[in-house]
Amino acid sequence: MKTLVCSLLAGTLFLLSSAANAQQPIVIKFSHVLSPDSPKGRAADFFKMRAEEITRNRVKVEVYPNGQLFKDGEELNAIQRGDVQMLAPSLSKFSVLGIREFEVFDIPYIFPNRAALKKIQEGTIGRSLLEKLDPQGVKGLAFWDNGFKILSANRPINGPSDIRGLRLRIQGSLVLDAQMRTLGGTPQVFALTDVPRALKSGEIDGTENPPSNMYSQRIHEVQQYAVETNHGYLGYALIANKRFWDALPADIRANLEQAVREATRFANTIAWQDNSDALAVIEHSGKTKVTHLSSAQLNEWRQALLPVMKSAQQRVGSALVNEISKTTASTSN
Ligand code: LMR
Repeated sequence: MKTLVCSLLAGTLFLLSSAANAQQPIVIKFSHVLSPDSPKGRAADFFKMRAEEITRNRVKVEVYPNGQLFKDGEELNAIQRGDVQMLAPSLSKFSVLGIREFEVFDIPYIFPNRAALKKIQEGTIGRSLLEKLDPQGVKGLAFWDNGFKILSANRPINGPSDIRGLRLRIQGSLVLDAQMRTLGGTPQVFALTDVPRALKSGEIDGTENPPSNMYSQRIHEVQQYAVETNHGYLGYALIANKRFWDALPADIRANLEQAVREATRFANTIAWQDNSDALAVIEHSGKTKVTHLSSAQLNEWRQALLPVMKSAQQRVGSALVNEISKTTASTSN
């Protein structure tokens, strides 16, 4: 009798725990280095909302903003190890995986406009760039925008010669390094979250970033001047750990692919508005004087930065650069 009760109890416990396991959601940790109100932060939260809705909570997405889980420089190794399932690092940061080609997005003025950028990212070039991540154990899912960059410093910058002698923070990309050296500046690699402190301590004099990053990191509070050069693009690759992604049940993966498509549409719509709003707020804060450039002045910046295109070809491959130039040439302004 005692044995019968024991085995009934064990059976019940087994059934209960199997039922509980069957209902355990698949957890996706999604880490990023920005604030929740940045374009990337908002898109990550949107992805979480849609992924959980579409899968009817069979997937739970935990978003970790502000680099609280992994900092710049740690993220990509963490996703390879499977310590985090999703990320959206800036395209300037993929060379740590041995993939230099993503730095093509750093070439100054390579995209004449947004339409040209999208043509590249959504076409065969974009797809083949994302596929380059596969052998590294990383699944490339989509491109997310931030925006075009402006320059800032504590002395007025109008023309390219005003950069001479400035120590400027860059992300760890050799194309960005060449860009600052071409202008006569000294590039310094720092994590974005360390930039306000480095500016205050005088380790660096200036920065480049889209206005939304400048604003969300409060950089405008410690920079008196900015110039709307729009000289380069900053965007992200939305990525997942490949082993994790490939092992998902097929229906869940299809649901998540839908959430990715929706979040990508959301990201690439809000980013541009967020940047123009951020620039207006920076300007109205009265802390940073923002210079807007005429087309003749913009042309001066373009000319000054032309040599970067040449040196970048050696870094990312001239075939890729030529293909982009050919594809974007047909895109009108
Ligand atoms: C930066 O380091 O400036 C950016 O990559 C940060 C980000 O994620 O936008």
